[in-house]
Amino acid sequence: MGLICEKGRLWVLDQTLLPNKVEWLRADSPSKMAKYILDLKVRGAPLIGVAAAAALARHAEEGADWEEFRASAKLLRRARPTAVNLMAAVDRMLAACQPARQEARGGKDLAGKAAAEAERIFDEDVALCRRIAEHGARFIKDGESVLTHCNAGGLATAGIGTAVGVIRAAHESGKRIHVYVDETRPLLQGARLTAWELESLGIPYTIVCDNMAGSLMRRGKVRGIFVGADRIARNGDFANKIGTYPLAVLARHHGVPFYCAAPVTTVDLSISTGDGIPIEERSPEEVRRDWGPKRARVHNPAFDVTPADLVEAMILDVGVVKRADLIKGRLPSRVSPNSRVRHEPKVDRAA
Ligand code: MRU
Repeated sequence: MGLICEKGRLWVLDQTLLPNKVEWLRADSPSKMAKYILDLKVRGAPLIGVAAAAALARHAEEGADWEEFRASAKLLRRARPTAVNLMAAVDRMLAACQPARQEARGGKDLAGKAAAEAERIFDEDVALCRRIAEHGARFIKDGESVLTHCNAGGLATAGIGTAVGVIRAAHESGKRIHVYVDETRPLLQGARLTAWELESLGIPYTIVCDNMAGSLMRRGKVRGIFVGADRIARNGDFANKIGTYPLAVLARHHGVPFYCAAPVTTVDLSISTGDGIPIEERSPEEVRRDWGPKRARVHNPAFDVTPADLVEAMILDVGVVKRADLIKGRLPSRVSPNSRVRHEPKVDRAA
C-alpha cells in the first residue's frame, strides 16, 4: 500500500524510487498530489483514485471552501487520463460533498463529508481487492507458473492488489506457485515494483524482459497470465499497461489462458468499446533515457487495449465473467458505478 494518513498528514510512497529506496513524501496539497500522480510516484488505477480522494479530504480539512475544493477536484481529475478510477473517485467526492455547498463557508461541513467519503473509497478498495482474490485464486493450480505484467499489486491499490492479489491468495492457500514477472518497459513497474512485492511476500518469482514471454510460452512454462486494468469498456475490451495486448495475442497462439483482474471501479459503461478509451501518451524521455539519440522521435503510449475475445475470463469483485459472456456484452449490471463519468479531452503528454 502506497498511501497513509497519519496524525492529519497524508503521505505517499515514492514508487519511482523503489526498490532501491523507500521514501515517503508528504502530499500536503491537491496540486502536489496531482504532480505525484502525473510523475507516477503514486500510480496504479485504484490507488490514484484513492489518493485523489484523500488529497481532496485533506484540502477540505485545511479549510478549503467549495470553490477551492471544486478547482482542486478538476486539477486532480486531469492528472492522468486512462484510469477511470481517478475520475470516478473525484466525481464521487464532488457528489458526496455537494450538499455541503451552502453550509460550506467555513469549510467545516465540507471537511466532514469529504473525510467520510474518502475513507469509504479507501475501505471499499481494500474490500474489492479481497473479493477479486477470492474469486481468482482457483484459476491457479498447485505447482503452476504464471506470468504477470506491470504492477497490479498492493502498491497499486489500497488493498492487496488485483492480479497480484489473485496470485497472493493462491500462494497463501498453500499452492506452490512461481511467477514470471515481465519487466515492463519503459518504466519497469514489473521488475521494480512487482518483484519487490513478491519478494516481501515470499512468493518465488523470476524477472523476464518483455520480449522473453513468447519463448517462455512456447516452451510450456506459463500456465496462465494475470494482469490488471485501467479501464474496461462495456464490451469487455480493456486498457492496461503497454505490452498487455501483445501478451494476450501470444497467449491465444499458445493456448495459455489470459485473465484480467479488476474492481468495479475500473469498469466504464459509458464507453462501448476499447477504441473509445483515452490512451495517455507520455514523455519521450521515458523511452530515450540516456542511450537514445536526443533528437530521436519516440512513440510512448502508456497503455494499450486488449480486445475482450482474447480474455479467458475477467475476474471482478462481483464474480467471474467468462469470455462467452464478455463478448456478448454481459458485464454484470451491478457493475455500473462509472456510467456517469464525464470525459475530458484527450491528453498528449508528449506535446
Ligand atoms: O502507469 P501505471 O504504472 O499506473 O500503470 C498501471 C497498470 O497498468 C496496472 O496494471 C493497472 O493500473 C491496474 S493496478 C491494480
